[in-house]
Amino acid sequence: EYQNTQTTAHTNIAFIKYWGKKDAQLNLPCTDSLSLTLDGYFTTTTSKFISDNEDQIWLNGQRAPVGFFKRTQKFLDLCRQLNHCKQKIQIITTNHVPTAAGLASSASGFAALAGSLNKLFQMHLSRAQLSCLARRGSGSAARSIYGGWVWWQQGSSDQTSLAVPIDEHPQLPICLLSVVFNDQPKKISSTQGMERARTTSPFYSCWPHIVANDLSAMKKAIATADLQQIGQIAENNCLAMHALNWSARPAFSYFTDATWKLINLLQQWRQELQLVAYATVDAGPNVKIITQKNQVQQIQARVQHSFPEAQTTILYPGSGIQ
Ligand code: DP6
Repeated sequence: EYQNTQTTAHTNIAFIKYWGKKDAQLNLPCTDSLSLTLDGYFTTTTSKFISDNEDQIWLNGQRAPVGFFKRTQKFLDLCRQLNHCKQKIQIITTNHVPTAAGLASSASGFAALAGSLNKLFQMHLSRAQLSCLARRGSGSAARSIYGGWVWWQQGSSDQTSLAVPIDEHPQLPICLLSVVFNDQPKKISSTQGMERARTTSPFYSCWPHIVANDLSAMKKAIATADLQQIGQIAENNCLAMHALNWSARPAFSYFTDATWKLINLLQQWRQELQLVAYATVDAGPNVKIITQKNQVQQIQARVQHSFPEAQTTILYPGSGIQ
């Protein structure tokens, strides 16, 4: 029988970071986190049952590479188990990205996959339940179920660790400028990086307190539409997260010289030019600049001047899964 399983999900950027799991099996985080869903990068996924002996997974028109295949298959196994089903599945997934925007695809990827499998298995999950399911694929995917500002509550069990929308259609004139540098250092996945930070950084015990403080300040800043505060809290929280990595044993860093150079420039532009421009950085060297619509072009021009090789993309708040 025909089933329309097509689902689209946008990626998100954390303004209060998720960095560490209290349960790696269930992807239960050590802290809450808060993000903005973005319009610039989305994943579209369809699924159907097949009579083959193996799952069939297509990524951007080609057979998925082995790492992607295994991670996706693990998620298919979870859904089969939940639905007492043994049938193999075909997944067709496409990432839509205007340029190299330097955005993670696992958040939009597992949100779209969870949404598609919800239809395939006729699970009739609510968005809250979908958030729990997406979380099992990748923690940050729990937040991509919703648009706009999203709060992932850590919870204490599979059913209570889920995202809730704070404001799906933000009215404030926020936008992000994604800056992708050319020299990419050796990759440590976020899964590996956060686990090393959690288990070896002597500062990790501070992290839950830092997040709790930043989160309540951030919610106030969102409620009062205070863009400068939003940016400042996000930058502080991001640097605290990276400090966990610099203090891990062995220490590691996602930052390159270019990352630092841009962070220092933003500080200068804030002071000397009164621009709203704050940095947030995830598990890589690239920077997302938090700014406002009527300043983003000026900032983009300045970034291009200082980093002629960098690729920049302007991103706006995006919607939840469809
Ligand atoms: C730095 O969600 O990619 O982007 O749950 O292991 O798949 P897994 O990790 P992932 O981690 C995201 C880390 C981050 C911060 C954030 O998005 O909150």
